[in-house]
Amino acid sequence: MEYTAIANPVITVEDLNLYYGKFQALKNISMLIEEKITTAFIGPSGCGKSTLLRCFNRMNDLVENVKVEGKAIFNEENILVPECDVTTLRSRVGMVFQKSNPFPMSIFDNIAYGPRKKGIRNKTMLAELVEDCLKAAALWDEVKNKLDKSALGLSGGQQQRLCIARTIAMKPEVILMDEPCSALDPIATTKIEDLIGELQKDYTIVIVTHNMQQAARVSQRTAFMYLGELIEYGDTDALFQNPKNQKTEDYITGRFG
Ligand SMILES: Nc1ncnc2c1ncn2[C@@H]1O[C@H](COP(=O)(O)OP(=O)(O)OP(=O)(O)O)[C@@H](O)[C@H]1O
Ligand SMILES: [Mg+2]
Repeated sequence: MEYTAIANPVITVEDLNLYYGKFQALKNISMLIEEKITTAFIGPSGCGKSTLLRCFNRMNDLVENVKVEGKAIFNEENILVPECDVTTLRSRVGMVFQKSNPFPMSIFDNIAYGPRKKGIRNKTMLAELVEDCLKAAALWDEVKNKLDKSALGLSGGQQQRLCIARTIAMKPEVILMDEPCSALDPIATTKIEDLIGELQKDYTIVIVTHNMQQAARVSQRTAFMYLGELIEYGDTDALFQNPKNQKTEDYITGRFG
């Protein structure tokens, strides 16, 4: 597979196979995820986008009968082996889900939850951290006067930005997003997309999206998957304007999917 120069790989995937019971959901995937850019995973429903994304913070562990082969190297460690410390991994590789999932507690406590668990108790420090994270998630102005109110009272788009703020509070290196805008209206979607553009200055972002326009807008690299295989992976502009593989072309021109 052709690929333009990789500056700094953050995650190196080598010959990854994943099975749910007897069903092979990922087939021999090898790819590099590059630092501080946004990588998009696209492809028809069921092709394995979420499965691959979840390998990067071991969320597939929650599924019974999963078998994984191969490597995903992050910080010089194969994170797919049982010895990998999953708690530490998940604080370094955060995740934002399709459906926002704020904790049933105040806006402030949602953000402070992780840092408190890490042992940060100082009230001033926590307040500063909460403010910084809400600012980074472009939510501060909308919530600064109601930090003690329940997070469940926020709109869907605000809740999703809160979940991004909560992820940032753990100071991750990588942020995984699985269709983060699919439950949002166009305005809330634009806000998240703008936010992704800001966040990629500081974080490596991997986003799964069904929306090809969104992939084109937010990502610099795109991976097209089909039936568990990585079919084509490269610069987003090149992949959309000049796909090398017939299947990629068929998909992005809307012939299937
Ligand atoms: N927990 C599971 N147990 C068994 N099979 C699963 C499980 N999760 C996913 N699969 C199967 O693995 C394949 C890949 O699923 P995955 O959710 O990764 O696809 P996807 O590309 O994210 O699809 P979508 O776009 O619909 O979210 C599918 O065939 C799916 O049915
Ligand atoms: Mg999915």
